[in-house]
Amino acid sequence: MSQPPDHNRQIEYWVTKISDLPTLPSVVHQTIQVVNNPNSSIRQISEMLSQDPSLSLRVLRLANSSYYAIPGGATTIERAVTALGIDNVSQMVFTAAVFSQFDLRAVSPFDVREFWKHSLGVAVASETIAREVGLRDSSMIFLAGLVHDIGKLAHFQIAKEGWLTVCGHAHANAFTILESERILGAVSHDALGYELVRQWQLPLIIQEVVQMHHSAESTGATPVGAHPQAVGVVYLANLLVHSMKFGSGGHGVVRNPSKEIVKRVLGNEKALLHVAKSTRKSLDRLMPLFDTMFGPQPSP
Ligand SMILES: [Fe+2]
Ligand SMILES: [Fe+2]
Repeated sequence: MSQPPDHNRQIEYWVTKISDLPTLPSVVHQTIQVVNNPNSSIRQISEMLSQDPSLSLRVLRLANSSYYAIPGGATTIERAVTALGIDNVSQMVFTAAVFSQFDLRAVSPFDVREFWKHSLGVAVASETIAREVGLRDSSMIFLAGLVHDIGKLAHFQIAKEGWLTVCGHAHANAFTILESERILGAVSHDALGYELVRQWQLPLIIQEVVQMHHSAESTGATPVGAHPQAVGVVYLANLLVHSMKFGSGGHGVVRNPSKEIVKRVLGNEKALLHVAKSTRKSLDRLMPLFDTMFGPQPSP
């Protein structure tokens, strides 16, 4: 594949390229509708899932993992949905469907498995923080966390060499991926991810999180956009997951969150410690679920 022009100004080039990437399975959109409709029933989501046997199988596998720990286990989708509730099942559908879209083989220095661990970690951390601060739409915030860095994967799929250069530069110089992208004049993953989730027609709250999960910092205490709390929650979740070294977003740099955003999202700075503890607990529970999906980390 020819190498693309490495500059944000040529975003049009990337927009045409992302149209070659896999589309999201329609079950993701159906699940979003179910989650966002207060009149949805467990039966509706069970019937919808039953139409996709491979997804049903994956959801059952997740349902029987120790993360969800259904007493007595679940052998049917109906049982899984009844035991877990619509929110949990929707998160399983999102996880199983989004992960199934991409080639997961690692190419040094980019470890796709570690990248997905970071993504799932941010999804779970975002949902944990959203619940702590009483934010509605926790399933949408989970999905937003899951895809917040999807632009990195898009770059990797479209122009492997260019992406590996960005990662290598970040590793060699202890830069974040965003810093490395800027220094090299490469397309930024937040802009590319935004174009991809727009193309996937994901809800506006998710588009905004993907587009602003880094630029939120520059706005500080002044909220911008229609969903500043959701953006702030995923921004904090991302930095917490980095600081806990849960997976890798392509670099090993840890940055402290902006005090203004901590105050705006959590109410006060001290709440960060409490939220960090809840997030750590969620991530510890998550590890077996991750192994269920990917198999345990191969021994060196
Ligand atoms: Fe990012
Ligand atoms: Fe990230």
